[in-house]
Amino acid sequence: MYLIDGKAVAAQMKKEISEEVLDIKKAGGKIPHLAAVLVGHDGGSETYVANKVQTCEEVGFKSSLIRYEEDVTEEELLACVDSLNKDADIDGFIVQLPLPNHISEQKIIEAIDYRKDVDGFHPINVGRMSIGLPCFVSATPAGILELLKRYEIATKGKHCVVLGRSNIVGKPLAMLMMQKAYPGDCTVTVCHSRSENLKEMCCHADILIVALGVPEFLKADMVKDGAVVIDVGTTRMPSSTTKSGYKLTGDVKFDEVSPKCSYITPVPGGVGPMTILSLMRNTLLAGKKSIFG
Ligand code: GUN
Repeated sequence: MYLIDGKAVAAQMKKEISEEVLDIKKAGGKIPHLAAVLVGHDGGSETYVANKVQTCEEVGFKSSLIRYEEDVTEEELLACVDSLNKDADIDGFIVQLPLPNHISEQKIIEAIDYRKDVDGFHPINVGRMSIGLPCFVSATPAGILELLKRYEIATKGKHCVVLGRSNIVGKPLAMLMMQKAYPGDCTVTVCHSRSENLKEMCCHADILIVALGVPEFLKADMVKDGAVVIDVGTTRMPSSTTKSGYKLTGDVKFDEVSPKCSYITPVPGGVGPMTILSLMRNTLLAGKKSIFG
């Protein structure tokens, strides 16, 4: 069994991006600039956004954090998106989700200029991804593909089972794993909370990607010997043994599943660290105008 070390791959990607930023600086080019919009004070969102801003600093990007209180109106947020769309210094920006219930997330996402949509959530980016055109690919799926690539994991002709159908992870991953490319060329099955024969499907998987958000959902009797298991779960479980008071728990019962796998990602230290670096890479591509000119 090989452990897929997302922390090490993310560190390598960070080094590669930093070197490219240095080259841009030396050549007198424009430093990539990422803006993040954060609404309210949700603990998870605060941490994610703080990590994104800090990673920008570490790779040499400019970053801006725009904060609103929970009671910001949809109009105010749309006006913010509009001004970021028009700001020539901002190469890419994200609006951290989830948003409060009185704001339509879809309306906000669709207001973002797709050329600055480094989250890859805009329907133009999602549509282009689904037909294999250049686009911003959302960060978690892109990070998973990067791990498969850097570990040279064979995907062609394999049966990939994706557990979860979210717009951010499950759906884009299913599209990417079936695309005519490497990583890709898989036969893909998507299972979700309403699937009747989920265990049977999992047992047929060569590659299992678990993105349900249900802690320790995947047990050993759901996994074929030699399978590749990618755990996207990051549920915060209360813990008395950590300083933060919580422990990140994956969707895979790691202790019993890992001995059966050829490759597996741990939680933490697997998919998680890759997500931010994928966002950084999208920001670099936005800064260089590599995708949409
Ligand atoms: N909330 C959880 N993951 C993400 C993400 O990748 N981007 C944004 N904008 N919000 C999120």
